[in-house]
Amino acid sequence: MFAVQNDGLHGCPMPQRRFSRRSLLGGGLAVAGVAALCGRGQARTAGLPPRLRAAAQGERRLSLVAAERRAKLLGADGPDSAVWTYGEKLFEVVRIAQGETLAVELENRLAEHTAIHWHGLRIPNDQDGVPYVTQPPVRPGERHSYRFTPPDTGTFWFHPHCDTVAQLGRGLAGVLIVEGDETAPYDADLALLLKDWRLDPASGGYLPFMTQRGALRAGTFGTVRTVNGETAPRLTVRAGGDVRLRLLNLDSTRVGDIGVDGGEAAVIAIDGNPIAPFPLKDWRLGPAMRLDLVVRAPAAGGEVRLMDYFAAEPVVLATLAGAWAPARGKAFDPTPLTRSAIPEPRIRGAERLTFAFATASKQKSALAVSADDGDPLAAALLDSLCAASTVNWSINREAWPVGDHSRVPKPLAVLREGRTYVAELSNETPHVHPIHLHGFTFKVLGSTKRELPVHFADTVLLTPNERITIAFVADRPGDWMIHCHLIEHQETGMMGYLKVV
Ligand code: C2O
Ligand code: CU
Repeated sequence: MFAVQNDGLHGCPMPQRRFSRRSLLGGGLAVAGVAALCGRGQARTAGLPPRLRAAAQGERRLSLVAAERRAKLLGADGPDSAVWTYGEKLFEVVRIAQGETLAVELENRLAEHTAIHWHGLRIPNDQDGVPYVTQPPVRPGERHSYRFTPPDTGTFWFHPHCDTVAQLGRGLAGVLIVEGDETAPYDADLALLLKDWRLDPASGGYLPFMTQRGALRAGTFGTVRTVNGETAPRLTVRAGGDVRLRLLNLDSTRVGDIGVDGGEAAVIAIDGNPIAPFPLKDWRLGPAMRLDLVVRAPAAGGEVRLMDYFAAEPVVLATLAGAWAPARGKAFDPTPLTRSAIPEPRIRGAERLTFAFATASKQKSALAVSADDGDPLAAALLDSLCAASTVNWSINREAWPVGDHSRVPKPLAVLREGRTYVAELSNETPHVHPIHLHGFTFKVLGSTKRELPVHFADTVLLTPNERITIAFVADRPGDWMIHCHLIEHQETGMMGYLKVV
């Protein structure tokens, strides 16, 4: 049932299989002027069915109280741990319908300031939740409201943006699912939140979130791996059903190589963006990245395992156990999601940008310009929670500064509102970097190293010495962060911003 697609490009590994029926649906978008890429040059999204359902209306109110609470992360018999959460649950999972407005009231009951960044949402800059850059920090005891209407369906998440290594390290994150993308309902819809914890198993207390060794290399890994706060949970699903799994990598460090063992699985969305279904072989899921799968549930009494193949010994992340009366007998051929409304980049004539991700150079102060008094970014650099703790990494030879308050970073680039930009992201290091751009969902056009489907994303994994070309329409003004989502890299220099005017 799989057709092998020949892309006609040289030097690209492993043509990917796809479902033959859907392969007829792909659009024929040619990517002009992008050479030496392993992508197929063909959008996997063009052939998706349109969204017919009318958008919902109304407002959803949400109260989030950031505070320290207790959780059992080391199992029922282990010691409990202090976690920082937005509510009584370890992770809030918020589901709204497309078209609904989200009105959030954040109350900060932590001992340090915080804010909420809405990762992957194309919302106005003043709702983006970056302290000093888009809003003042929310001090202990203060409240802050956010109000926006997410334009796209999909699997998103939210988290703080200063001292992220400690705040996210203690669990401060939540999930936002915007529903309305399905053409036919699946038998189940489960969000699976992957996060490791840096815990001392004897006391339940935390080990240092950042280590010099880790921050200079691939990051400092957690000691306890969990899915939804449990180690290798077992989830009961209807036998033979089609289960939608929304995988979110909420970890600060770990890159998974996601596969399914014992059953069939297809990718239906990347970072929440629908894509014509294709069989899951394995998918590198870096920090902050999401993957929506449809997995055929096993027969009653059977098991399908969600795996991470990245480790020397494959790790079982979760097990789906089949139960109850079987759902159907049809062959596995998941229905596609509907097409999203991300603005289509106009590649021809687009302006080119390059971003080189590298270690920090000695002349890092070249990036800085003098601050005016009262400049919020200058204030940010007085604030040890938002400044880089030390400088290991850079973007285009510039590093997010350490706490030198007389200097503020200038934007990595100034973009014109409404124009398309084609950007080459190049990794000049031997480490992986999940690169995230705020505010814009970009189209991944191809890689010099890997066969990637053309797809929309907000975070893309740059593997060692790889170059990836993306394109996006800079359709909203503001200062938009671009950074590595491996938090120790972000917090030791690999962060900057683009100014859209
Ligand atoms: Cu998920 Cu700048 O963040
Ligand atoms: Cu990085």
